[in-house]
Amino acid sequence: MSRTATTYLGLNLKNPIIIGSSPLTASLDKLKRCEDGGAAAVVLKSIFEEQIEHDVATSLKQSEGYVPHVDSSDFLTESSRNFHLDTYLSLVEEAKEALSIPVVASINCRTEGAWLDYIERLAEVGADALELNYNILPSDFKKSSQTLEGEFLHLVGEARKRSKLPLSIKIGPQFTALANIVKQLDEVGVEGLVLFNRFYQPDVDIEKVATRASIMLSGAHDYTLALQWTALLSAYINLDICASTGIHSGKTLIKMLLSGAKAVQICSVVMQKGDKVIKEMLDNLIDWMDQHGYNDFVDFRGKLAHKRIEDPSQWERSQYMQSLNREF
Ligand SMILES: Cc1cc2nc3c(=O)[nH]c(=O)nc-3n(C[C@H](O)[C@H](O)[C@H](O)COP(=O)(O)O)c2cc1C
Repeated sequence: MSRTATTYLGLNLKNPIIIGSSPLTASLDKLKRCEDGGAAAVVLKSIFEEQIEHDVATSLKQSEGYVPHVDSSDFLTESSRNFHLDTYLSLVEEAKEALSIPVVASINCRTEGAWLDYIERLAEVGADALELNYNILPSDFKKSSQTLEGEFLHLVGEARKRSKLPLSIKIGPQFTALANIVKQLDEVGVEGLVLFNRFYQPDVDIEKVATRASIMLSGAHDYTLALQWTALLSAYINLDICASTGIHSGKTLIKMLLSGAKAVQICSVVMQKGDKVIKEMLDNLIDWMDQHGYNDFVDFRGKLAHKRIEDPSQWERSQYMQSLNREF
């Protein structure tokens, strides 16, 4: 067995590097490039709940005046849904046929909607797992954190009920009581957690005095939030943590493993440097393992997790106090 082999969501991976859901995983030729570059698994570009609902609404609107029967409206709704679903299912199917690494499907969801009906079909066409990218903007003044979190957990519970397909949840850090939410996800029986998604945030163009798209790609220093939370949670829960955001080097990959991550997802660094970076990161990992006398991951994974270090406060406030008091 390879020294870099790991498991994630019950899947055997030859190494801990997964290409995250992004344009890098949106078509068959790109997926093949990920595998050829050395990635251990791929998460397909997400199918979006909004995309589906929008199309359903559009086709119904266009048919106004021509659709006198409820049945016809149901048909249009279904055929529109099926168009997107079939395209996505075909990609999963083709990817499974062409690649030898695990293929994880991804749904970007916000509410308990039609996407729940897709899960079993993804399993049928061979998806190895499903990643749910939970994406809401908590900007509704009338909704409390309790209501929103209740809706989220209910939605995950529903997804869990629909299929035995290994399930991972990709979240952002914006939860009031993140550790508690993660514990509840663990209890629902979810197999994995992706920490963290990097949400799109609009910017402002001050010359045009208008909003504009912001830069989507992460930088090499953006990893510390995922690192801290991986360390804080990993040794206390059953589900696998896959670290994500700002992982741009072998060094950062090693940090995530030391904190207890089972695997990592990368996107931005591959988009910036090409897929040769995957091999560079794995070479760095092996060199470092050799230097430290670690034969495989069992020797060091989670060694620096909150539960395992002598002074766990280092993952909480004590480093913060030291940083604040450092001389500049
Ligand atoms: C252009 C672009 C498109 C993305 N699209 C998706 C998506 O469809 N679904 C998803 O779950 N994440 C999406 N992501 C987020 C990435 O999967 C990843 O979580 C994020 O970029 C952080 O990882 P990184 O720092 O390695 O880029 C996208 C990221 C980028 C840059």
